[in-house]
Amino acid sequence: MKAIAVTPGTPNSVHLRDIPKPNIASVPDGKGIRVKVLKVGVDATDREINEALYGNAPPGDDYLVLGHECFGRVLEVGPNVRRVKPGDYVTATVRRPGGSIYDRIGTYDMTSEETYYERGINLLHGYLTEEFVDSEEYIVRVPQGMKHLHVLMEPMSCAAKAIQQAFECQRRLKVWSPVRAFVLGAGQIGLLATLVLKLKGLDVYTLARAPGPHRKSEIVAGLEATYVSTKETSLLELAAEVGKADLIIDATGHSGIAFEAMQALGHNGTLVWTSITGGKRNTEIPSDKVNIEWVLGNKLLVGSVNANREHFESGIKDMAVGEVMFPGVLEKILTSPVDGLDNYAEMMRLLVEDDSALKVYVNVADE
Ligand code: BGC
Ligand code: ZN
Repeated sequence: MKAIAVTPGTPNSVHLRDIPKPNIASVPDGKGIRVKVLKVGVDATDREINEALYGNAPPGDDYLVLGHECFGRVLEVGPNVRRVKPGDYVTATVRRPGGSIYDRIGTYDMTSEETYYERGINLLHGYLTEEFVDSEEYIVRVPQGMKHLHVLMEPMSCAAKAIQQAFECQRRLKVWSPVRAFVLGAGQIGLLATLVLKLKGLDVYTLARAPGPHRKSEIVAGLEATYVSTKETSLLELAAEVGKADLIIDATGHSGIAFEAMQALGHNGTLVWTSITGGKRNTEIPSDKVNIEWVLGNKLLVGSVNANREHFESGIKDMAVGEVMFPGVLEKILTSPVDGLDNYAEMMRLLVEDDSALKVYVNVADE
């Protein structure tokens, strides 16, 4: 069957290849699920993998099948599968467990091992193909009424985890009730984080470069948050104007901004970093200033990567509420479909060159 793959370590190696069909019997204990891939989203991680900045092939292979944001339909289930049945819409988690205690209790997103296994990213093949097989543990059902949001489930899980982590950490304060949040970046993670924070009742400011109106600013407004163009008002100007934030989520993909954000956080606040920065940028920072403010304000910085089943499930629930509260807004994220696996070059072109492409995804097959 067809698959979109790269040769890790070789820049611009994206190509179409033929790979063997998976077999449900390869999953132990009758827990296998075979899924027909309908759609797969791609993001900056796929771009960086194709630029050979990130990602590794599975042991024994010299290629890596791309794709970690999947949406599909169950074709076949093993005898001991209970959560889904043939015909159900599903997505799948990305990371697979290593050997640490965190991996063993289903929180593989928190593995303490340096080596991590992620489908379509590191050491495991991804979903940009016609079918895949996995264990019930990693397959998450998508409600029928949300199939129009298809490939957003995985990015949503990362946004949901990042925010859940902030609240979990802030239990140190006993009574934390954040009022103001800054979301840095209006890509998919930034916009989905905006939704989650709005549903929690925060005053949300979502920042990105380009002055509106444009699609991103419309989506932010549709979620009843405030869009701020950093060309018009810088992050630090915004903090001076409306007050520093209790919670900042950085999803810009820019490490310089992640550090700058430290200066816009209020006392007792939390800054969550979610950007995957495969490059080699160096940034100068006013470290004495940040250091003293950080200490005197009991501030917290937390990194958040990936997501486990629990975050997929809570993210899907938040999206469902979002659909009821802000009907039709989330699907505006899904800007740029590509038809078929054969069009892998167009997929990469949109990802690299098209600034207006908020979400690129491949229509792999019809139902
Ligand atoms: C993916 C995450 C993954 C991270 C690091 C992101 O693009 O969405 O699932 O953990 O990259 O590899
Ligand atoms: Zn991703």
